Amino acid sequence: MADDPFQNLPPEDSELRPNAEAGRLLLGGPVVLLTTTYRGVPNVMPLSWFMPVSADPPLVAISVGQGRHTADMIAHSQEFALNFPKRPYLHHVQYLGSLKGAEVDKFEATQWETFVPVRITSPLLMNCAGWIECQVVETLPFGDHVLFLGEVVAVRVDPDSYDGDRGRWRLDADNEDDRVLHFLGGNEYSSLSRVYEARMPRDFEAPERILRERVAEELELTQEARERRAERIEALRDEVRRGNVVDLDAIDPLELPADLKARIEEGEELDLSRGFILGGPDRDEPGR
Ligand SMILES: Cc1cc2nc3c(=O)[nH]c(=O)nc-3n(C[C@H](O)[C@H](O)[C@H](O)COP(=O)(O)O)c2cc1C
Repeated sequence: MADDPFQNLPPEDSELRPNAEAGRLLLGGPVVLLTTTYRGVPNVMPLSWFMPVSADPPLVAISVGQGRHTADMIAHSQEFALNFPKRPYLHHVQYLGSLKGAEVDKFEATQWETFVPVRITSPLLMNCAGWIECQVVETLPFGDHVLFLGEVVAVRVDPDSYDGDRGRWRLDADNEDDRVLHFLGGNEYSSLSRVYEARMPRDFEAPERILRERVAEELELTQEARERRAERIEALRDEVRRGNVVDLDAIDPLELPADLKARIEEGEELDLSRGFILGGPDRDEPGR
């Protein structure tokens, strides 16, 4: 029997954060380079605040800061394109986010090549994984941003990056540089690396019973995995206590206990007595 959700306290190790941080929690999707044009002058800006809104008709919403040159351009031109840059272009994306279209010709600054769109006039960017052309159907200001609702009028993909049969981004072993770029915030980016397939009960006669059994089975497995992890962590602690050599490359970073991880990140060698650490994590990694 499940616990009463109104009686349970939040998990002990959870943290309350400022409300404005909701936007950061929602990050992680692909970042796009939004191109637009007005009176023959094109502009481009990185954008991570966007979402699909309707499948039929296909509509997407984008949120652009009030006062940004891009917001003025879209308000006038009533169109925009979303270009999905590939993973190696993270530096270009970050740089483009530091330039203001009212002051700089960003195409001149980055020498990014373009090609012709199908249904709009905003140029599309080469070296991208996908392209979406939109015509604005609604403009709504919210807080410090303006939401533009765009009707999708053309979609193009690079088949090295997007699997049209499956209808999803490719994650093949040999397509690392063709993968789309995901934005985590600040100057940090990522790309997807693994696909997990969800299992569903096959016996549609009794889905509830099967689901119940499956959940119980998974919980048991999780419990077992937790116990095994606790044993491995204890063994690791023991090694460190005894001053033995610990090769971090051989340990799953997810298994490293938080206290040991924090000490290593602080720069401690964990040479607690005579032992030392081989292959410790890099310490000079940078951190929107
Ligand atoms: C990865 C990344 C994502 C961004 N996402 C958004 C966004 O979703 N909305 C927005 O208004 N600005 C966003 N920005 C900031 C704009 O891209 C930046 O202010 C840009 O210089 C504005 O260009 P403009 O002056 O030509 O309009 C983002 C910047 C970066 C680097």
